[in-house]
Amino acid sequence: MKSLTPFYDPSISYEDNYANGPFGLFTQLSHVEHVATQTSQFLNLDVNLPFGMPAGPLLNANYIKAAFAYGFDLCVYKTVRTRFHKCHPLPNVLSVHPNGKLSSHLDIVLADTNYTQPLSITNSFGVPSLAPDVWQPDMADAVKAAGQGQYVIGSFQGTQGHGEIEKDYALAAKLVRETNAPILEANLSCPNEGASKLLCFDVDKVERIVNEIKNAVPDRPLILKLAYFPDDEKIISLLTKVGSIIDGLSAINTLSAKPVNANGQPALGENRKEGGICGDAIRWAGLDMVSRLDKYRKQMDLKFAIIGVGGVSTSEHYHQFIKSGADAVMSATGAMWNPLLAIEIKKSLN
Ligand SMILES: Cc1cc2nc3c(=O)[nH]c(=O)nc-3n(C[C@H](O)[C@H](O)[C@H](O)COP(=O)(O)O)c2cc1C
Repeated sequence: MKSLTPFYDPSISYEDNYANGPFGLFTQLSHVEHVATQTSQFLNLDVNLPFGMPAGPLLNANYIKAAFAYGFDLCVYKTVRTRFHKCHPLPNVLSVHPNGKLSSHLDIVLADTNYTQPLSITNSFGVPSLAPDVWQPDMADAVKAAGQGQYVIGSFQGTQGHGEIEKDYALAAKLVRETNAPILEANLSCPNEGASKLLCFDVDKVERIVNEIKNAVPDRPLILKLAYFPDDEKIISLLTKVGSIIDGLSAINTLSAKPVNANGQPALGENRKEGGICGDAIRWAGLDMVSRLDKYRKQMDLKFAIIGVGGVSTSEHYHQFIKSGADAVMSATGAMWNPLLAIEIKKSLN
């Protein structure tokens, strides 16, 4: 497994990464190897390879342009909000060292700055956003940078305390639509915005949010970003309510854990005892969620697309997700540390 200079530098602030990144190979955009592929259908669009990066690592148009140049054909622009929202202070990313697979029960994991393979990390940003007058022109610029068979997906979320959250989701969707992003993604998997901690578990609220978004933006495919669902009943209940309205489901976001330093103290700071874990240790959960979504999609005769996310860092992982029922696959942690991942997957198909 390759470990190259990550294009996002965890040792400096989010703001500095935003202003000065991306780094490493993503600064070299000429003479990038182009590997031709047979196109696939994704949400009724022709895509070169249904592979890319989920919401997070691609902070702005400069990152998206680099990702397109390196053959990531589906690029999600990091989640935006209807107004400015500050980022958590450093550290935002640390390496974590679980013993094998991470469970979904808030494991305690050692966290430090030794980014060793197979890599798992904790990320803790608090879903920052610039104001729409800054991110809208930038997202529009990213949308224009797409080559043939490449697409920007605009990720957004509503914020608690800005009136009804359903309306704030709909406003965010409208603002994303104004950038001409061809696909929208509503992030429902970040902590603290819903009744049962993660919004996606509050199925009635999800239904109201989806209806508001679809009323506000009827002419764009809508993907929902989900967390790992431990029990099947919740999946069935979600699909019963929104399975025929939405166009895609992206799963999974991170699994929560308690990262600690070598002294057993909270590694992200006293007021951030929990962090989301992504990378190698959560791949089992991503694969499990995708195969259960696929099973119920068939049983309930639904048509939505499934985007498989979680711990993808090799071409084998890509193929595992496709075999489990994913229509598209995305990698955050794996791609951040290996910008050549899309090229490697394309070569594995030839
Ligand atoms: C640096 C970083 C930032 C992230 N920010 C977001 C975000 O803004 N919105 C979102 O829906 N998910 C976010 N995520 C979660 C990823 O989209 C993805 O679901 C998760 O990292 C699992 O994929 P992985 O194992 O390939 O990293 C972020 C992940 C990382 C690594």
